[in-house]
Amino acid sequence: MIILGIETSCDDTASSAVKFERKKIKVLSNVISSQVEIHKKWGGVYPSLAKREHSKNLPFVAKKALKGIKPDAIAITAGPGLDPCLWTGIEFAKDLAKERNIPLIPVNHIEAHILSCFIGQDPKLPALALVISGGHTQLILVEKIGKYKLIGETRDDAAGECFDKTARILGLPYPGGPAIAEKAEKAGKELGFSLPRPMINTKDYDFSFSGLKTAVLYDFKKRKDKGENYVRAMAKEIQQAIIDVAVKKTMRASLDYGVDTILVAGGVSANKELKKQFKENFKNVFFPLNGLSTDNAVMVAIAGYYNRKKAKKDIKADPNWKL
Ligand code: KG4
Ligand code: ZN
Repeated sequence: MIILGIETSCDDTASSAVKFERKKIKVLSNVISSQVEIHKKWGGVYPSLAKREHSKNLPFVAKKALKGIKPDAIAITAGPGLDPCLWTGIEFAKDLAKERNIPLIPVNHIEAHILSCFIGQDPKLPALALVISGGHTQLILVEKIGKYKLIGETRDDAAGECFDKTARILGLPYPGGPAIAEKAEKAGKELGFSLPRPMINTKDYDFSFSGLKTAVLYDFKKRKDKGENYVRAMAKEIQQAIIDVAVKKTMRASLDYGVDTILVAGGVSANKELKKQFKENFKNVFFPLNGLSTDNAVMVAIAGYYNRKKAKKDIKADPNWKL
């Protein structure tokens, strides 16, 4: 069967057709229209602008993804995400499903991120998933596909949000993750002090990143020489602080729950240094392949496939949908 995935939960308008043949997954198309240039001016995602862009881009993004393809169903992200953005995608998908007389499947964005690790690879379950993106930082026990248990999450900012906010303090563009990674790679001299690693030693599996952001702001304000060397060294330290917390918390959960397959998904999982250090610390660690870490609709189609029995006509946006 062929599923057309549609994703509009944040600032990427994406659509992808994926073919499922028994256990084989074939990506037929993968179209993404990024709004980065629009949101750069604001240093983050501006919901009403994002909604406007989704409405504008959806028709041609879906058309391109559908070229010469007849889908059997449509999968649409219904949450979590930005309410106006989710609704735009849902209304569009509803019309398309009606027009073609095919089922419409609501998809959870977090589940889609987790399932992005199953495209082109076959991790053994049970697994522990770390979903680190701009909107979420969660540790989830994946007993099997469809059966999840949230064991920890951020109490304030998400890891990606921390990258984005600290990048902004340093005068780097949005999205902050890639911008910080690029500066960190060029760092020479050490910063001379360590940023905090919030909650790294607590016994739970929760995260907190707002203290890290405040520490960066505090140092930036009092610092006199804010030249390129400082920015590079600070970028490296920010990145390392986030990686340290992510690795340590995942390690603790993995040991406590006796699960050694680790899935790392969501936009921040695109970070090269984070990947390297997870590989050094975990034997069975999986990341999404082929640029599927950041938001895309391939993962939405896969989540749609596993939830195909939950198709319904009246889908509503659920901005806080918990897995
Ligand atoms: O999954 P995603 O595309 O959207 C959400 O669901 O939030 O994640 C976007 C986040 C942004 O905060 C961005 O700064 C971060 O992922 N990100 C990265 C990298 N690429 C994207 N963070 C660190 N290193 C990267 N290479
Ligand atoms: Zn996402």
